[in-house]
Amino acid sequence: MKQVLIAEDEQTLREGIAQAFTAKGFQVHQAQDGTEAVNLLQEKPFDFVITDLRMPGFDGMEVLRRSRMVNENTIVIIVTAFGTVDGAVEAMRGGAFDYIQKPFNLDELELKVERAMDHQRLLRKLDYLSDRIDSNYQFENIIGDSPSMKEIFRTVEKIAPSNSTVLITGETGTGKELIAEAIHRRSPRRKQNFVKMNCASLHDNLLESELFGHEKGAFTGADRQRIGRFELAHEGTILLDEVGSMSPTTQAKVLRILQEHTFERLGGNTTHKVDCRVVAATNLDLQKAVRSGAFREDLFYRLNVVTVHIPPLRERREDILPLAKYFADKYSGEMGKGFTGFTPGALETLGKHGWPGNVRELENAIERAILMTEGTQLSEKDLTLWNPNGNGGSATIVHLPAGGYNLEELEKEVLVQALKMSNWVQKEAATLLGISSRVINYKIQKHQIKNPRWSKNKT
Ligand SMILES: Nc1ncnc2c1ncn2[C@@H]1O[C@H](COP(=O)(O)OP(=O)(O)OP(=O)(O)O)[C@@H](O)[C@H]1O
Ligand SMILES: [Mg+2]
Repeated sequence: MKQVLIAEDEQTLREGIAQAFTAKGFQVHQAQDGTEAVNLLQEKPFDFVITDLRMPGFDGMEVLRRSRMVNENTIVIIVTAFGTVDGAVEAMRGGAFDYIQKPFNLDELELKVERAMDHQRLLRKLDYLSDRIDSNYQFENIIGDSPSMKEIFRTVEKIAPSNSTVLITGETGTGKELIAEAIHRRSPRRKQNFVKMNCASLHDNLLESELFGHEKGAFTGADRQRIGRFELAHEGTILLDEVGSMSPTTQAKVLRILQEHTFERLGGNTTHKVDCRVVAATNLDLQKAVRSGAFREDLFYRLNVVTVHIPPLRERREDILPLAKYFADKYSGEMGKGFTGFTPGALETLGKHGWPGNVRELENAIERAILMTEGTQLSEKDLTLWNPNGNGGSATIVHLPAGGYNLEELEKEVLVQALKMSNWVQKEAATLLGISSRVINYKIQKHQIKNPRWSKNKT
């Protein structure tokens, strides 16, 4: 039941308003002066306050102020005496929703209250919707039913609002980048940039120039000044991916940014200040790298203020099927395939596989299966799940017969199968086998595999 407080020193008017609101199903509380109104406000929450401006004790402005202090969502409507528009204007500025001039009829007041209620409903809906949008951004694209993923979500929510440095660890393809982005999206920095840098992709000088920027003429080819990724991430977040592969000099510079928030561009003397949150990710055992002297211990402790460890998929098998379904729906939608589900055999295959490439491997396998399948249901035949490295505890793919097998023949057999499976498109067959187009081409020639479609350019 909606709670309304009516503060009005004219008894007849007050009681008239009270009756009208009681008839409309409100729970009505009356105050005959400002002091009583303020006391009531402190006792219980109200949806509406209708207050006279001029009253003994505290005046209507004070009632408004106190009401806003206790609860910003309470709607306050001010009643003013005829001809005192000034007070009404001031009250509106102070956060009143509306005002009404004496003398008024009750219909007029009810209309204003109804409008206020509509307004409140809209606000609530807006709140709800913007919450939904935020959460879509943050977790809807991250699937995780396992206790360990749920724990990670809780940790992310807890640490995101702060500025502390986070180290995300986990095998390749476990979703480190996704979690890093979720931390940024849930932080107060979300409106600024989320900048990524893969520290393994470039060597010393080039990496430093990417991270810190350079001045014109800093090195051969530096024909203009360029700002680095730390500067791009100012007031935002920077992800230092594969952080374990930085050289000692780069490590020292990153440590300085973490400690003093300062750096110089390559070839420059000016010291720049930057405010960015650092999230680091690694699939290496950084502690081991510290012990072997490859990674600075002080930097390790600076980065490792909070650690988020994402376990490999094989250690959270509850996530496999929800992830498979999520990717199947996603790619089926993108490719217009009308996926409806998995056969029991496919579910079993997915559940048993070792997933050494973790979620990335699962995503690729499902994408490939959706691409290849002719039906709307994915069966185990649509799934090609071997992996070239064969580690990570995956099921045995080839059973060697007692009499052994000729490796060359086996290779040819596998090549032909992969080619047929990919409709003789060499690039796709190469992807299936985890080799490059150049290597598959070489092997096709070596085994003299022929297909009529290639007759024009193959000997
Ligand atoms: N929980 C998850 N829900 C949905 N998608 C996921 C999840 N985890 C990973 N992915 C997807 O798997 C792929 C690999 O994830 P990501 O790039 O974050 O892995 P990574 O741990 O950074 O791997 P690497 O160490 O190789 O860089 C991405 O396409 C990502 O969107
Ligand atoms: Mg990554």
